[in-house]
This record gives sequence, structure tokens and C-alpha cells, in this order.
Amino acid sequence: MTRVNVTVDGVLYSDEVENRTLLVQYLREQVGKTGTVIGCDTTNCGACTVHLDGRSVKSCTMLAVQADGHEITTIEGLATDGVLHPMQAAFHDSHALQCGFCTPGMIMSSIDLLNDNPHPTETEIRRGLEGNLCRCTGYQNIVRAVQQVADGSAPAGTPVSSGSTS
Ligand code: FES
Ligand code: FES
Repeated sequence: MTRVNVTVDGVLYSDEVENRTLLVQYLREQVGKTGTVIGCDTTNCGACTVHLDGRSVKSCTMLAVQADGHEITTIEGLATDGVLHPMQAAFHDSHALQCGFCTPGMIMSSIDLLNDNPHPTETEIRRGLEGNLCRCTGYQNIVRAVQQVADGSAPAGTPVSSGSTS
């Protein structure tokens, strides 16, 4: 067992973990951040995507011990003061989800994509989200949501309680 000190969604956690524990397992089972989901655990689907020091990572691809001393943001840490992050609001507004399973990872990757490239073309959005799979194949509306945020037309101030699945 190894002690890790990790900040998750702004809160510092200090926990003993087995060295083989994946970051996604730690987040879900020890920290309780079940908004981060597991679709494959073989680095294929992107459902487990979180931000590590502001950059998206697939949390099934990292060990929890590798996150020691780092800052993690999950889908549950995006809303501030009860208001959805613009990307969450845009996914909601664009109906960019069907079953919603891929949505947390899609949103985390989409935010990172725009951090790198604030005004991507449609092709760049699709390429940037290549690591995230939507089994419901709702890609069209997902791309539209990212475009909404990029062009500043995403709805602002959507309350968390308005029915978002994220
Ligand atoms: Fe991590 Fe699928 S659960 S990539
Ligand atoms: Fe169902 Fe994407 S909305 S997997």
C-alpha cells in the first residue's frame, strides 16, 4: 500500500492505495466520484476521462499512485456555484447525449480540446475527440455542442438542477 495525496475537485484527499489501483478505481471507489465511468478499462473508449493538472487523461490508463501530488478535476467538479460549466450547458442545450454514458468523458475531452484550440474546425473537433467513443453514435450533436462553446453561443447560467445528466 502507498499513501497518495491528491486534490480532487478542489478537495485534498490523503489515502492508502494498492500500487496496482487504477486512477479510475480510486476516484470511483475511494473518493466516490462515480460520475467518472468505466466503459472498457483498456484505453479505448474515453469514458473515464478526467483532467490531471488541467489536461485530459484517461483515468483507466494511469495508476492512482501516479496522481500523487497532482490535481484532478472530474465531471463532478466542473459546475461552480450551482451553475453548469459552459460545455455542460452546451451538451444539454444541443441534446448531445442519448444514453449519457460517454458524456462525462466527452465533456472533459471537449474542454481540453478548446483549451488547445479555441476555434477548431469541425474536422479538428472530430479529430480531437477521436479517443472518445459514443456507442449511441450521437456525434453530430456532440460536435455542435463544442462548436457552440467555441463560437460563444453556449447558453450561460444553466442551473445544475435543470436536468443535465452530467
Ligand atoms: Fe478508460 Fe474506456 S474506461 S478508456
Ligand atoms: Fe450513449 Fe454516447 S450517448 S454512449
